[in-house]
Amino acid sequence: MSPAVSPRPARPVRFRRAAALLPLLLALPLAACSGDDGDPAPGPDTSSAPVQAPLDPVLAEIAGGSALDIGFAVATERLDEPEYREIVDKHASLVVAENVMKWETTEAADDAWDFAEGDRLAEYARTTGKKLYGHTLVWHSQLPAWVKSLDADAMQEAMEDHVRTQAEHFKGQAFAWDVVNEAIDEDGSRRSDSPFQQTLGDGYIADAFRVAHEADPDAQLCYNDYDIEGINAKSDGVYALVEDLLADDVPIHCLGIQGHLTAGKLPDDLQANIQRFVDLGLTVRVTELDIRVETPASEEALAQQAEDYASVATACLAVEGCLGLTVWGVTDRYSWIPMWFEGFGDALLWDADYETKPAFDSLVEAVGKGRPGRTA
Ligand code: XIL
Repeated sequence: MSPAVSPRPARPVRFRRAAALLPLLLALPLAACSGDDGDPAPGPDTSSAPVQAPLDPVLAEIAGGSALDIGFAVATERLDEPEYREIVDKHASLVVAENVMKWETTEAADDAWDFAEGDRLAEYARTTGKKLYGHTLVWHSQLPAWVKSLDADAMQEAMEDHVRTQAEHFKGQAFAWDVVNEAIDEDGSRRSDSPFQQTLGDGYIADAFRVAHEADPDAQLCYNDYDIEGINAKSDGVYALVEDLLADDVPIHCLGIQGHLTAGKLPDDLQANIQRFVDLGLTVRVTELDIRVETPASEEALAQQAEDYASVATACLAVEGCLGLTVWGVTDRYSWIPMWFEGFGDALLWDADYETKPAFDSLVEAVGKGRPGRTA
């Protein structure tokens, strides 16, 4: 087991926030209150009893005291499903579109813009008081064919136009953007199968950030990637990229660590990795957390998954500049994992029947501990 994986505490967590304690205080039997004469009323001695976790925990509320956003990737078409919507309504302080703000949806043909579903999510975020995180502007995947066939001048123009138009459209709504997604290969070099890399060369990343900043100077601009949770060749490559961008005064503000993980295989240096990017001057978010297990899932696998969800939250909370944790989906019923990772699934906090899993409870516990050394 990795050092970053902390064993679950034997005692229930003490929640620091008054809001979290309220239901407990209300539930205390009247007999436990002091009488008018100041003498303690008879009753069980509860002085050493551990504080119970709230019966109906709300993730966003529990995390709020630590200034940690709790996000969910939302499939907008599922918002009409009452159980799905209820969970997002209740537990999210941040939402991100699972698909509908990607290039293939918003600009399927050159200059033919479709923001209908993105607008729907933005409206949902606005009316429910949640942050909207923009995903994503420049990515080799879910990219329409017309872009891939352009020559260098035309592709540069198409990329800049795409970034500008979309960032301007959601200006004042999306507080942050994954400007460039997945541009680095496993060995730390530039992704060789990216049409942008192939046709435009190294400069496209800085260009995308500069145009996004012009279009929406208030937005937080992020680089986002997978397999960069621990310190490894790929995250070293991302680190070098960010260093170069910052040295060239490129407006980059944040790193998205996706967090598509496998239960029992967490890197042991997640916290150190987050810390080194924060030390560079970026904020960091875990942007697409899901922790897959082999299916059908055993109880042991789900227990390991629970521990791993807690470990990720604990690592993020331990670094002040780690500002959010977004889970990539709501229910195992609709997760992308089984379709993309054969033999794996059950990666989320709610099962296919919308029941919470052990991972939910352990995430509540871990988030409830807050940031080390801080009193809320
Ligand atoms: C996934 C979606 O969840 C799927 O519905 C879709 O078919 C493929 O993309 N990295 C990313 C996300 O940045 O946009 C991807 O989302 C998962 C990997």
